[in-house]
Order: sequence, then structure tokens, then C-alpha cells
Amino acid sequence: MGTNNYLVVFSLFLLLPHLTSSKIELVDKGYRNLVIAIHKAVPENPQLIEKIKEMLKEASNYLYVATKFRVFFKDVKILLPDTWTTKPDLYRKATTETYSRANVIIAGQKNSKGDEPYTLQYEGCGKEGRYIHFTPNFLLNDKFIQAYGPRGKVFVHEWAHLRWGVFNEYNEYQPFYRDGEHYRVTKCPKDLSGKVCFGNDCSKCNLENANDPPKEGCVFLPEKYQETSSSIMYTPVVKSVNQFCNKSNHNQDAPNDQNKFCKLKSAWEVILESEDFRNANEATDSGSVEPQFTVMQESQTILCLVLDISGSMSGSQRLERLQQSSTLFIEKIAKEESFIGIVTFNNIAYVKKGLTYVSGDDVRKILVNALPTKAEGGTNICSGIRDAFEVLSEDDGSTEGDEILLLTDGEDSGISSCFEAVKTSGTIVHTIALGPSAAKELEMLSEMTNGKKYYASDNFNSNGLLEAFMELSEEQIQLESTGGTQKPGGSLVGDTYIDSGVGFNTNFLVTWQTNVKPDISISDPDGNKYLTKDFKLEEKATVGTLIIPGKAKTGKWSYRIENTAHQPQSMTISITSQPSGAQSEPVIVKTNLQQTNEPPYTVVIYVEVFKNFMPVRHANVTAIIETANTKIIPVILKDNGAAADLVKDDGIYSSFMTDYDGTGRYNFKVQVSKLHTETKAAAGHTSGAMYVQGYLENGTVHLNPPKPVVVDDEDFPVEDFVRTKSGGTFMVKVVPPANQDVFPPCQITDLSAELLNNTVILAWTAPGDDMDKGTVAEYEIRKSKQAVHLRDNFHNATQINTSSIIPLAAGSREQLLFDLEEEEKVNNSVIFFAVVSRDESLLSSDVSNIAQVVIYHPSPKSRDPDTSNQNRKLTVGLAVSLVTIILCSVLGLIALIINKRNSGMMVLDEEHVRKKLNIVAEA
Ligand SMILES: *[C@@H]1O[C@H](CO)[C@@H](O)[C@H](O)[C@H]1NC(C)=O
Ligand SMILES: *[C@@H]1O[C@H](CO)[C@@H](O)[C@H](O)[C@H]1NC(C)=O
Ligand SMILES: *[C@@H]1O[C@H](CO)[C@@H](O)[C@H](O)[C@H]1NC(C)=O
Ligand SMILES: *[C@@H]1O[C@H](CO)[C@@H](O)[C@H](O)[C@H]1NC(C)=O
Ligand SMILES: *[C@@H]1O[C@H](CO)[C@@H](O)[C@H](O)[C@H]1NC(C)=O
Ligand SMILES: *[C@@H]1O[C@H](CO)[C@@H](O)[C@H](O)[C@H]1NC(C)=O
Ligand SMILES: *[C@@H]1O[C@H](CO)[C@@H](O)[C@H](O)[C@H]1NC(C)=O
Repeated sequence: MGTNNYLVVFSLFLLLPHLTSSKIELVDKGYRNLVIAIHKAVPENPQLIEKIKEMLKEASNYLYVATKFRVFFKDVKILLPDTWTTKPDLYRKATTETYSRANVIIAGQKNSKGDEPYTLQYEGCGKEGRYIHFTPNFLLNDKFIQAYGPRGKVFVHEWAHLRWGVFNEYNEYQPFYRDGEHYRVTKCPKDLSGKVCFGNDCSKCNLENANDPPKEGCVFLPEKYQETSSSIMYTPVVKSVNQFCNKSNHNQDAPNDQNKFCKLKSAWEVILESEDFRNANEATDSGSVEPQFTVMQESQTILCLVLDISGSMSGSQRLERLQQSSTLFIEKIAKEESFIGIVTFNNIAYVKKGLTYVSGDDVRKILVNALPTKAEGGTNICSGIRDAFEVLSEDDGSTEGDEILLLTDGEDSGISSCFEAVKTSGTIVHTIALGPSAAKELEMLSEMTNGKKYYASDNFNSNGLLEAFMELSEEQIQLESTGGTQKPGGSLVGDTYIDSGVGFNTNFLVTWQTNVKPDISISDPDGNKYLTKDFKLEEKATVGTLIIPGKAKTGKWSYRIENTAHQPQSMTISITSQPSGAQSEPVIVKTNLQQTNEPPYTVVIYVEVFKNFMPVRHANVTAIIETANTKIIPVILKDNGAAADLVKDDGIYSSFMTDYDGTGRYNFKVQVSKLHTETKAAAGHTSGAMYVQGYLENGTVHLNPPKPVVVDDEDFPVEDFVRTKSGGTFMVKVVPPANQDVFPPCQITDLSAELLNNTVILAWTAPGDDMDKGTVAEYEIRKSKQAVHLRDNFHNATQINTSSIIPLAAGSREQLLFDLEEEEKVNNSVIFFAVVSRDESLLSSDVSNIAQVVIYHPSPKSRDPDTSNQNRKLTVGLAVSLVTIILCSVLGLIALIINKRNSGMMVLDEEHVRKKLNIVAEA
């Protein structure tokens, strides 16, 4: 029992970080390289820059105090969009900083949440978040300070989410919780003073009566001036707050995300365990902590293609595919008014085309003509890179902020010889590894320069090379990318959808393999057809393109591509489009992948599906993984709040990947669709600062304007859409032995407990034999009177008989019913539950979240007509004899039970209680 078999050593994958954000460094107490980027659509306003500086100066001081003089912000980069006026004397040219990898973004409103600052955080406790989002409005308008606290302090609240993976200590949906005979405020610490008031009236809200939860509209108003210095993750509105809740004052009972996701640990304990603090002791105040700012601006694209033409490129049709993809890139994807150069290399490098200003089709044609047609010789990647530096310097003598797209299929032992030069050049290097033998260290170049990294196998059908080129464009949204080998006369057929958020510059790109071009037919939603003759066919490359003029019609499009050759050939189609600029923002898909570098060495795939920063729910999301041996493994991703998915319905779809197929580069893309079903974008869960409804100042109530209403889901219908997004490549260095089970079941995170009469009902989502796949062998369920006992000493708690459970397949709902013991039926007492699952190899999961039930016998007094009148009225005609109050509790569901003796007398209606408690159930 409780074996840790999986620790049996198989020393594993050497891991490369999969960076989705700019890497912040901590040197001598100072955070460096923090990138704050302003979105293109934000109107030019130099005042924003000043406000960002003000915020960070205040934040740096506050952070320094909050971390007991351990860290501060040393060097901050503010990245302006290229839509703002260029001021070379004030703004430096950006180098490897980009908006898409910024740590903090300043961008338009998230409709449903207005100007509420938040951090996108979905990997769990102690894990870094993706980015912090502030609206320009929040920075410019001082009215927000009253409700959220000073901006610098709010920044530190968000920073704690982003950097150290801690969570909120308030709970908007459950502001009060039952604690024995009382109700209490969901806050940290317990002694943060204030009053619970209804508007200005602080006499109406009673927390002392377990029979009577605080009524709707009752809110906790903190005292603005008090002694308490915690807690930043509750609210920095209170003047004296400048600390995080720590082990001694943390409130473990509060049903908040911090307790839920961090297993009842205080924020400060989690922070101290972070990489930043593991080796840093409490320090003393020393010197200035004022950040240094560098204001930078994105500039026009200056890119050099660096293409491998070594002998191996002539195999597996690599050179042909290189021509296809780079032709498409130059013809269709490269932006007007950008600069492009072309360098090829084998043993030495050749400048095929110096830096060329892209304007018009003729220039593009000249560039296409410079693409290589012959492959021979060896591989010297660094010679190609050095020549690219020369080319990139042609404009202004500098390579800073310029980009290189490096494509290679060969081994090169000398690749590390130019790492230093690349680092100092300030260029962003994107890499494409083609075929199975490309240099192992290739991706290092991307990682040290914030570049993208791709892998395209030799499988023509998987379309990897074309997808990689497509992803280089920030404007193009990929809708579809698919391929297949067709027999003579066979056809590649399918449908796609163009939603109203996209439609401009819609491109159908068809590739084939032989010199016999296929018969192509595309139908728009009205049945109008585009045929092969409408396609532009490239002379040298086996590729045809069709651009739909104007805005492509919204709706279902169909394609049919017939192989007219006398031999089988592979054909692919890729469809891209650009935002239509209409009011409707397009659905945007982003990928993220995390490999853990300790057993059980899992890979987790995350896909963010947002429309205007709002989560898009109920989409179909599938990751298509292509292994090093070109095996295709589809993985279905879920947004169900179970297994790898932290929060249900937050627009983040997640899954574990456990199917390995050899070592080497894996490549993945995701397909996201929503077809023929109603889907809404909606306000989702976010980690962010609390909107304080008001506060007390020396006893007097000050109310803030009511929080802007969260706009109803109904306002954001999402029409049918399809998206394809390349996730890039990740490296698997060692695979688990084929004959050994190394993956335990994943942790259960959605255990809930309910009490019905004297029966406890536990429910949870089934994990799998290997993380979230397959079926577990057994469950071990235990109970205790103390939550921490289950957390810290699970196997010593009282066991519940689970012999009646036959485990179901991963993802199914499991349930267990059992009766309370006689001695447990004590009024106001609480029982906690947790579960561990095991597979047939006896590998155990982590201890689940902790669920609880509260035993409650209503007082005989509540039979008094005066006090129970309302309840009785509500339940006339109901034959139910007991009460279940479902609280959306971090600790699970709380249930109240009415003693049998009273059962006929008073019945509370669940819906009513929930409303009264202002609670949203989240079963
Ligand atoms: C916890 O925080 C409180 C208030 O911020 C402080 O007084 C106390 O010393 C801290 N305890 C520990 C163990 O750090
Ligand atoms: C997801 O796919 C399934 C099966 O293909 C389909 O029945 C369902 O309608 C799809 N849902 C959405 C939202 O597209
Ligand atoms: C409340 O008390 C604080 C501290 O004693 C003081 O600074 C502040 O001015 C007082 N506020 C009001 C409105 O009296
Ligand atoms: C609860 O117990 C009462 C009395 O024992 C019984 O009449 C009632 O049916 C039970 N309710 C449920 C839902 O089992
Ligand atoms: C387990 O529980 C027993 C009593 O139930 C106690 O004596 C023992 O110390 C506990 N073991 C641990 C490791 O806590
Ligand atoms: C568990 O319950 C089963 C019947 O459901 C029973 O046969 C078994 O003896 C019980 N085990 C224990 C340890 O009580
Ligand atoms: C159970 O406890 C509550 C809260 O203290 C109290 O109001 C109620 O009267 C108690 N029930 C009984 C049967 O004593």
C-alpha cells in the first residue's frame, strides 16, 4: 500500500524548457528582463509609459518589503507597438522582446470583466503563470485605486500569481463559510478587521447564527487603518497590508483558491519554496530598489532565411518541400514593407539574395527565384548564421531585433561554436528541424533568443514544414491544415468554416508531390466554385494558391482535391485567413506544453481558446502529436476541471501525454473547432485583485461604486469556427521502458462530499491507470476530523470501505455512498475526506483535494413559526426530509444534515439556501 514504485529509477528525458514567456532573471536580488508590452490596438499615449513606470517604482518598494528585503524589480523593459510613432532618440529598437512573449500585457478590455487586472494562471500551485493583463484604462484612471488598492500594490498581488503560482485568498462566489456554529468571512488572515455590512448598515448581517447564513448583499468591509499587515493575496486596499499570509496566520478553513490549489498552505510558504527563495535567506535593507526602465519599440520585420542545401536535403523530397514552403512564405506570408534576405549553406555559406525590400509581386518573384534548387555537400550551420548576420546588417549596420529562420536537416557538431555570437547579436532565431537527423542542439538557438522552434518530419502528409512557415506570421490565422496520400483518381475532401471574425486575405494552399497537378475544386457557402484554373500555380514548386478577393463569405466551405496522376501521391491543403476587422474579434488559439523533469516525467499540453480575452467554452480540442517515428497520436484535451485541467470552463483545455514512441523530436499541432453547437464566450475564472465594495475608516462606512456587472454569457455567442495551430516541437531524450508501468494515476482534484440524511455521498472524476488514460485498479478513501491530517498523514487516517467500487474508465463520474458512524453524528462537527487511487502496478496517485461535510442538527427553536416561517413557505409540498446545502467549497462540498427527529418539521430548499449564501455551486 502506498508504494512509490514509480520512483524506481529510470533516469530520463533531458529536458529543454518550453518557453512561452520571456525569461525573467533574478540576479543579486533584482529581477531583470521583465517585459511589459503594449498591444498594437492601444491608441498612442505617452502617459501610459509614465503610468507603467510609476506603478513599477511603487511595486518595487512594496515587493522589497513584502519579501523581507529579498527581491525587487531591477530592470524593466517597456515594449511599444510599431503602430506608435517612432522616436529613435527615446525608444530603443526591440531585440528579442515581443508582445506575444511579454510577461505583462497592456491591452484592451476583456469585455466581461471590464478593467479588472488579472493573471492568466493555469498550471497549479507553485507554477509560473502566463502573463498579467492590465487595461490602459486601469493604468490611466485613478478611480480604480479605491476599489483595488494602489497600482503598485496591485502589481505585487499579480506578480505573486505570475511568478510564484499562489492564488487568491478571497472568493467572490463564496464570501462566507460555515465554521462550526458560526459563519465567517472568506479571508486571510482571520484577524483582518472590518465589518459585514449591507450597504451602509452594519447591523443587518449576522454571522453568529448557524441556522441563518448572512443574507444576500452582505459584504465584508475591511477597516482601512488597522494593525494587521496581511495579506496581499486578500487585498492591498488596507493601508497596513504589506505581507503575505504565512504559516502562523494563514486561514486554512477559508474556501479560497489558495487553500484549494495549494493544499491548505499559506502563500508565503509556497513563495519560500520557489526557485527564487529556496536559497535566499531573510536579508537586510540595502540600497536603492528603484527599477531601471528601457523603453523599446517593435520595428519592421527584417528577416533572413538560412537554408540548408547539404547533400541529405536531396533525399525524401526535402528540397522540393523546402521550395514549396519558402515559396509560399515569400509569396503569401511575408509582410509588405518588410525586408528579406536569403542565405544557403552546406560546408560554406552563400548569400543568395541580400536584404531586399518587399514591395509588390515582382520583388517577391525575384526572391523566389533565388531559392535553392540543388543540394550537395556537408552541413555548417554557423557559416550560414554568420553570413546571415552580414545580410541583416546591410540596412543599419546592426542585427539587433532582426530575425533568422534557420532550416536544417543535418547533424553539425560545430553548432555550438556560434552560440555566443548569436546571443550577443540580438537576433531572434526561429528553427525548423527537417527530418530525424537534424542537429540535436538546434533548438538551443531558439531558446536563447526567444525564437520559435519547429520540427517537420519526412511525412509529406503531415504538412509540418508548411505549418512552421505559416506560424511565422502573427497576422495569419490558420484554419485548417491536413493531407493524405491518394490513389490515382482518389480525392482529399473536406469542409471548413470561415467565421465572421476572420475572412480577409483568405488563402487556400494546395501542395502535391509529383509533376502531375491535381484537380482542385473549392465551393463557398453559396455553392460558387473555384477550380484549378483559378489557382495560381508556381512554376518550380508543386504548389497552388488561391486568395479569395475581399472578405471570404462566412459559413461552410468545401474542398475536393483529386489525384489525376497515374501513381499515388500525397496532397495537402492548408487554409489561412486574417482578422476581418469587424466588431467581432476572432477566436485566438495558443498552445503551451510543459514537461516535468522529475518522475513520472509527464508531458502536459495546454491550449488557450479565447475570444477577446474571454474563455470559449465547450469547444472540441484535439492535439495531434507526431512522434519521432512519425507515428500520429491524437490527444483529446478537456476543460473540465479534472486531471490536468485546473479549472473548469476557463477556456484552457488540458491533457497529459503519456504515449511515447521512441526518442527524438516530437511535433504537435492542435485542432480546435466548434460546430453545430451553441457555445458562449464567458467570464471565466481568473486570478486577480479583489474589487473591494467599500471600507471602514475609523468606523465610518465608505462605499465604492458597485462593481461593474459581469456581463451575461448571452452577450457573447461564438459562431461556428475551426482553427489549427502548430505547437512547435519538444524533445524526448529517453522514453520509459516499454515493459514497465511508470505512470501513476493522476491526482483527483474534484472530490466532492454531500450528506443526505445520514448517508455521505462522495463523487469525483475517475483518473486513469496512466495519469488520465485507462482505468485505475482501486481507490483508497480516508476520513479525518482534521483536513491537514489527511494532507500530511493520509495513510494513517481512518479508512472507508471501498470494496463496492468497480473503477470506471478515466473521465467517468465515480460515486460512493456510505453511512455516518453513530459517534460521528455530533452537531456542528466536520468530517473531511480524501482519496488516493492506484493502478494494477500499485503506483499511487497524489492525495486528492479535501472534501468535507458539516453535521448539523437544527435547533428545536427553528420550529418556531416566527423564525421558520419563510422556510416553511418555501418548501410547502416538498417531501424531502433533509437538507443539503452545496457550497462551492475549495474543500469540497459542505452538507448540512437535519436530525431525523426534526425531519418532518423544517425543510430548507437547496436553491434557496444557495441564493441566500450568495453561492454558486460548482459540482
Ligand atoms: C506572519 O505574519 C505576521 C504578520 O504579518 C507576523 O507578525 C508574524 O511574525 C509572521 N510569522 C512568521 C512565522 O513569519
Ligand atoms: C465535437 O465533436 C463531436 C464528435 O465529432 C461532435 O458531436 C460535437 O458536436 C462537437 N462539438 C462541438 C462544440 O463542435
Ligand atoms: C482615521 O484614522 C487615521 C489614523 O489614526 C487617520 O490618519 C485618518 O485621518 C482618520 N480618518 C478620518 C476620516 O478621520
Ligand atoms: C431520509 O430519512 C427519512 C426518515 O428516515 C426518510 O423518510 C427519507 O426518505 C430519507 N430521504 C432520502 C432522500 O433518503
Ligand atoms: C498514526 O496514528 C496512531 C494512532 O492512531 C499514532 O499513534 C501514530 O503516531 C500515527 N503515526 C503517525 C506517523 O503519525
Ligand atoms: C467491506 O464491505 C464488504 C461488503 O461490501 C465486506 O464484505 C467487507 O468485509 C468489508 N471490509 C471491511 C474491512 O470491513
Ligand atoms: C446545533 O447547533 C446549532 C448552532 O449552534 C444550534 O443552533 C442548534 O440548536 C443545534 N441543534 C441542536 C439539536 O441542539
